[in-house]
Amino acid sequence: MTDIAGMPTISPRPVVDPSLDLEEEIAKLKKERNAVILAHYYQDSEVQDLADYVGDSLGLSQQAAKTDADVIAFCGVHFMAETAKILNPEKKVILPDLDAGCSLADRCPPDLFGKWLEQYPDHVVVSYINTSAAIKAMSDIICTSSNAARVVASIPEDKKIVFAPDRHLARWVEKETGRELVKWPGFCVVHEQFTARKLIKLKAANPGAEIIAHPECEDAVLVLADFIGSTTGLINHVKNSPKKTFIVATEMGVMHSMHRDRPDATIIGAPPDSGCECAACPYMRLNTLEKLYAALRDLSPEITLDEELRKAALKPVERMLALG
Ligand code: 13P
Ligand code: SF4
Repeated sequence: MTDIAGMPTISPRPVVDPSLDLEEEIAKLKKERNAVILAHYYQDSEVQDLADYVGDSLGLSQQAAKTDADVIAFCGVHFMAETAKILNPEKKVILPDLDAGCSLADRCPPDLFGKWLEQYPDHVVVSYINTSAAIKAMSDIICTSSNAARVVASIPEDKKIVFAPDRHLARWVEKETGRELVKWPGFCVVHEQFTARKLIKLKAANPGAEIIAHPECEDAVLVLADFIGSTTGLINHVKNSPKKTFIVATEMGVMHSMHRDRPDATIIGAPPDSGCECAACPYMRLNTLEKLYAALRDLSPEITLDEELRKAALKPVERMLALG
């Protein structure tokens, strides 16, 4: 999903009649196909608004596990749609843009990971859901950002653990659980951009604000945060907090729900350490309304998986889902 420089590859846009009312056409196709639209909070707001369910990685995999639709139109990134396919081999899973990868998943290739694991034969392998099916198949249990600490805490104290691929999430889980983890050195290109320096400046300009952050941020950022949580955790925190101003260190798509839930609050996106003032995931944003329409129309691009690989990847995903 990435070219040599690590940036998303760009496929040509599908041919779509520009005069179409896409919202209406998508609703029609959804009915015809008996499809469900699942969307991550990092999608464009117009995509979120059309979805049957919007959630974080854990919520989306739980929804995928229980849907009775024939088609799952997954508005998220490849590993999320692939997880839906792992759980639903008999259903058609479509992803509006097949190039919607993830820097964490793409930078943890199965051949290197397998070699790396050879050094730790007696370790329990915990992998973040932001991995390919091949990595999941080499893992004992999967976690997401909302259950990572719980998953690690569920492993008996006498067992050693490797955690892949996000080194920042791993460090945060170590702090939360007191367990030592062997870490794959991966990171998210979006959360890596938030810096303590810029946050301190922003907080000085907004002294009453609460800083909230996703655990994919580096430790220097997380120590400044008043609250750390998954995408859903951050949204729920803002919804229920008595505070009026929030500095949010995660992908800017979450602000759509935050503004809806707290129209009275001031929500400030933490600026990335680049010339750009917005923190948008370049992979997630490859999905558009046009591409969602074309995917439902053509039932393509479709996620397909070798059955043996799917079965092997299913076991650690089911272990996670069983934890609730
Ligand atoms: P969530 O578990 O919060 O959905 O995280 C997914 C993700 O890709 C964060 O960058
Ligand atoms: Fe991957 Fe980061 Fe984008 Fe999430 S925000 S999908 S971790 S690149």
